[in-house]
Amino acid sequence: MSTTIPTALDENNVPAKPRLTVVGTGYLGATHAVAMASLGYEVLGVDIDQAKIDRLAAGEVPFFEPGLPELLAEVLETGRLRFTTSFDEAAEFGDVHFICVGTPQLEGSHAANLEYVESAFTELAKRITKPALLVGKSTVPVGTAERLTDIVCLTSPNPELVELAWNPEFLREGYAVQDTLHPDRLVFGVQSEWSEEMLRAAFEPILAADTPVVVADMKTAELVKVAANSFLATKISYINAMAEVCEVTGADVNLLASALGYDDRIGSRFLKPGLGFGGGCLPKDIRAFAHRAEELGAGQAVAFLHEVDAINNRRRRRTVDLVRELAGGDLKGKRIAALGAAFKPNSDDIRDAPALDVADMMRAESASVVVFDPEAMDNARRAYPQLEYAPNFAECIRDADVVVLLTEWQKFRDADPEMMGVLVARRAIVDGRHALDADAYRAAGWEYRALGRPAQPATVRLVEDAKDQVSATA
Ligand code: UGA
Repeated sequence: MSTTIPTALDENNVPAKPRLTVVGTGYLGATHAVAMASLGYEVLGVDIDQAKIDRLAAGEVPFFEPGLPELLAEVLETGRLRFTTSFDEAAEFGDVHFICVGTPQLEGSHAANLEYVESAFTELAKRITKPALLVGKSTVPVGTAERLTDIVCLTSPNPELVELAWNPEFLREGYAVQDTLHPDRLVFGVQSEWSEEMLRAAFEPILAADTPVVVADMKTAELVKVAANSFLATKISYINAMAEVCEVTGADVNLLASALGYDDRIGSRFLKPGLGFGGGCLPKDIRAFAHRAEELGAGQAVAFLHEVDAINNRRRRRTVDLVRELAGGDLKGKRIAALGAAFKPNSDDIRDAPALDVADMMRAESASVVVFDPEAMDNARRAYPQLEYAPNFAECIRDADVVVLLTEWQKFRDADPEMMGVLVARRAIVDGRHALDADAYRAAGWEYRALGRPAQPATVRLVEDAKDQVSATA
C-alpha cells in the first residue's frame, strides 16, 4: 500500500467518500455511474467510444432504460458526474474504479471474450500513481480475477498501490435503476481488509439501508454471478420442458406453472413458460460457464446447462411450428405480424433476442414477416435488415394471416382483440409469451394458440367429450 497517506484518508487508508470511475458505459456501466452519482459520489464515466461519451455528457442515454434519462439529467445538474475517454484522467481521479465492460461470447466458441476486460484493467494499471482499488463488475469465467491480478502487477509501474476486487452485478435491464439503488444483496470478492473497507465506503448509502452483503474471496464472487444466471435460465427451461410434455399429453403448462408457483419453495418468478430466454446475459453466461467448467475438469457438474440451452432453443422452433399450423401448414407467401423484437419488454436490447430469431426463421420459410417493437426498431433494423418493419402496431397487423406475440410489451397485452380483429386478414394468433387473455381472444372469434397449451381450452373439450359420449350412447 501507499507509503504516503493523503489527509483525506482515515487511519486504514480509506477515503470517507471515495471518488469513483466507471469504465464501460453500456447498460451496466452507464446505470452504475448515474446511480452512484445520485447517491452523492463524485463519479467519472469512462469509455473508448467518443460518440457514446458525448451523448451521455449531453444528458442523452444511448439505449432505452426506464427512469435512467431522468436520473442522468438530475445528476448532471449537480456536477458530480462527468464523462471522459481519457484513461489518464480516470487514473488521476479515481480511488475505486469499477470495470463494467462487456464480455460477449467469442465468435466460433462458447467461451467469453475477455479482451475488453483485460484492456480496461491494463489501461488503468499502467497509469496508477496513487492507492487504487480496481473492481471488476463484468461477468467473467471463474479464475479471471486472479489472472488479472497477475497482469495488473506486471503492467503497473506501481503495483504496490493497486488491488483488485470483484463485485458482480445483478441488475435486470428494464429495472436497472431500481436494481442498482436497491439491490437484493451485494457481493464483495476481496483479497484484503483494505479492499473490503474501500468497497464498504463506495457502497455506504446502500449498506446503510440494510442491504445484505456477502464478503467472499474473488473466485466465489465470480461464481455467484454465473451460478445465479444459470439458476434463472434453468428455472425457465424447466417450465419450458414441462411445456413440451404438456404438448404431447394435452395438459396446460400455464395452469401447471401457477399451481407449482404457489409452493413457496418453488416460487412463481422465472417460471413463466413461453418462447424462452434471450438477451446479452443468460444465453452467453450459461455457455461460458459450461465451457469454463469443462476447462477445469468439472464439465459433468454443469452438463445439464447444455440441455437448458437446447430446451430454450427448441422453443423458438416450436413457435414457428405453431404459426405454420395456424397458417394452414405452409408459411410460403403468408403475411405474419411479429409483435416484438427486443429480448424482453422495457428494453431495446436485441442481443440473442428470441423474437427476431423466430421472425427470421419464418422469413426463411418464405413468409412475409412484418415486425413492430415499441423501442427496439432501430437496433432490429441494423441487425436484421432482411426483415420488414411496420411504423406502428396497426400497420404491423394489417392484413396479417397470423399474428404472433414474441415480446410481451404492455401495449400488446392491452390491445383489444375486437379492434385488432378488424385489421387482420384472419383472426389467428400465437401467444409466444403466455401474456394474452386467451378467453377474450377466443370470445372475439380468434383462433388462439400458445406453447404448451391445448388448442382448445379444457372446458370446451370437456363439454365436447360429454356431447360425444351422449351421442355414442344414443
Ligand atoms: C439477467 C438477470 O436476471 C440479472 O439478474 C443479471 O444481472 C443480468 O441477466 C446480467 O447478467 O447482467 P436480463 O438479461 O436483464 O437479466 O433479463 P431477465 O429479466 O433475466 O430476462 C432474461 C430472459 O428470460 C428474457 O428473454 C425473458 O423474456 C426470459 N424469461 C424471464 C422467461 O422466458 N420466463 C421467465 O419466467 C422470466
